[in-house]
Amino acid sequence: MEQTNVPHVMFLPLPAQGHIKPMMKLAELLNQAGSQVTFVNTDHNHDLLMSHTDLTSFHDRSPNFLFRSIPDGLRPGKARSLSNCKELLDTLQAVARPAFRQLLISTSMRPTCIIADGIMSFAAIDVAEELGIPVVTFRTFNASCTWTYFHLSKLVEAGEVPFPDGNLDKSITCIPGYENVLRIRDLPSICRVEKADDPVLNFYMRETSTMTRASALILNTFHELEAPVISRLNSIFTKIYTIGPLHALYKSRTKDLMISQSDSSNGVGLWKEDKSCMTWLDSQPLRSVIYVSFGSLVNLTRLQTLEFLHGLVNSGKPFLWVVRPDLIVGEFGIDPMELEMVTKERGFIVSWAPQEEVLGHPAVGGFLTHSGWNSTLESITAGVPMICWPQIADQQVNSRCVSEVWKIGFDMKDTCDRSTVEKLVRDLMDSNKREEIMKSTDEFARLANDSVKQGGSSYSNLEKLIEDIRSMSP
Ligand code: UDX
Repeated sequence: MEQTNVPHVMFLPLPAQGHIKPMMKLAELLNQAGSQVTFVNTDHNHDLLMSHTDLTSFHDRSPNFLFRSIPDGLRPGKARSLSNCKELLDTLQAVARPAFRQLLISTSMRPTCIIADGIMSFAAIDVAEELGIPVVTFRTFNASCTWTYFHLSKLVEAGEVPFPDGNLDKSITCIPGYENVLRIRDLPSICRVEKADDPVLNFYMRETSTMTRASALILNTFHELEAPVISRLNSIFTKIYTIGPLHALYKSRTKDLMISQSDSSNGVGLWKEDKSCMTWLDSQPLRSVIYVSFGSLVNLTRLQTLEFLHGLVNSGKPFLWVVRPDLIVGEFGIDPMELEMVTKERGFIVSWAPQEEVLGHPAVGGFLTHSGWNSTLESITAGVPMICWPQIADQQVNSRCVSEVWKIGFDMKDTCDRSTVEKLVRDLMDSNKREEIMKSTDEFARLANDSVKQGGSSYSNLEKLIEDIRSMSP
């Protein structure tokens, strides 16, 4: 393998939109700072990405940025959705490590370091150790949730997971700093299992432990939001780079480097955005619209869809709803076209929105969200308060932090009925409660935006990361 003084960083994300997006932002930032980058997707996601990315102009702008791909083990044509994510995890575990090893061996320029998703540790860490390449682990969750994952085995030992007596409102006791914050129902969704030897729970316990063999941890959060728990994580990782909100840091650095936003990739994603909703938003009054999106993975049943629909219509507020083609599942699903007909009066439906732009639009006054971490950070940065309906992964922890720690929204976890939706939308959009919530929402928006300006905490941490990667070069 050739060696040069230009650092070469290889990225390995988990194959999901919410993981690829922040890692791609970081990859572009490092590339702008002079690193050669190789971004490794699965074949399936690579094809999706390339189907609507102009690769020629991307490479004209960023000649030192390469895409590579490895198989995910599922047969072509099979859906990669939440319903078969266990199967995907199984096949990935079977094929990703040898494929990644082969890619590393055959690459002409030896990577200076690998930035691997914490949940891809099984594919990256052994191989990197064998080849003597440093690994930095990137956890796409926030610090609070990352800390919670480090206590999964303690939760099992303490008998708090699985939940034997079914009392979901009991406070958990064995996560330092979160004793008075998290209840059983606020634990990550992988804790909602019947047996302690559940294979998915055990996969996450293993991955969380394996990632500690990395030399440092990157988190898409900012110091001012989670300082106490970041310092607790220092007991596990001596080096932690908090560089979020990455989408905002990306915009801030791109502006500083005087790269126009249209010249930058500005969010390479797996799906093509439908921008028609921006014109609709232009016609709506200031802060009147509730934006509704459940991210890239969460599904709704027909019943849940109807409860949300009635709650939204009954609230009397205009709403913009992202209905992905695979959002609604089940035998008696709802045709998105049918939904569009019903909502025509007051709502607007798109299959995939330019979410960052939507949240920054002056007509948007609230966000009904699944509490994915990217969506939460994007909402915080835009100063938009939230109603949270968490479903999977870190979302239960995130929504608890939103409502109880940061006080920038409401948590409707484990309920889904039209009257709750209607009440919370009204409370969020125009009640005295909104005034209270807006005080902390505005303050965290200010802190988030300050952290990505020159001299801010995330901006400076990115500089440190760039410097540390340079010092790894031979
Ligand atoms: C998942 C987990 O839920 C999340 O918590 C974890 O940290 C990463 O993996 P996902 O369910 O996709 O991610 O949610 P989220 O983290 O919110 O990411 C969704 C991303 O897609 C956001 O960056 C959002 O801006 C983007 N998006 C969503 C769009 O661009 N358009 C849309 O219409 C909807």
